[in-house]
Amino acid sequence: MLKTICIVIISFINVVPLLLLAENSPKNYLKAHNNARAEVGVKPLDWDPQLELHARKFVEKHIADCKKAFLDESLASKYGQNYAYSAPPQTAAEAVARWVKHKHNYDYKSNSCIDGTINCLCYTQVVWNSTTFLGCANVECHNSGASLTTCLYHPQGNIPNQHPYNIH
Ligand SMILES: *[C@@H]1O[C@H](CO)[C@@H](O)[C@H](O)[C@H]1NC(C)=O
Repeated sequence: MLKTICIVIISFINVVPLLLLAENSPKNYLKAHNNARAEVGVKPLDWDPQLELHARKFVEKHIADCKKAFLDESLASKYGQNYAYSAPPQTAAEAVARWVKHKHNYDYKSNSCIDGTINCLCYTQVVWNSTTFLGCANVECHNSGASLTTCLYHPQGNIPNQHPYNIH
């Protein structure tokens, strides 16, 4: 199966948000995802602690080389994955908001990204109808004033030749 993944890399130096661990709870990730899903009539995701564990292992593995966090093949074969690198660190809601922003670059009719890139696949994974479970993790990267956030999705979305959801 063709596997597509979406990565968002953001670097700002002028805005430094206060990052609280409490802002990266399952509730924060779920709310940001489920609001975007509700907008297109797709049912909400549930939290899966097992996915969270895999996500945590991924971000912790890359804590020293956050910016170069590559796709993990063993995860990619089983799950959908979105990730975001941000300097300075961002919260769960901010990371998900950046994926959701890609909505503007998604054309439903052609089922592709408007600008011909892959810069809408974070969004299409967020709203993928047949995805039911979510697990995410976030770390503050070593020495860099940055964060790495990843979410894993099961069953995985962005399946070629399928739309993320139906328009009724
Ligand atoms: C989501 O999938 C279910 C089950 O296949 C289907 O009944 C429903 O219409 C779908 N909703 C959307 C918005 O695609």
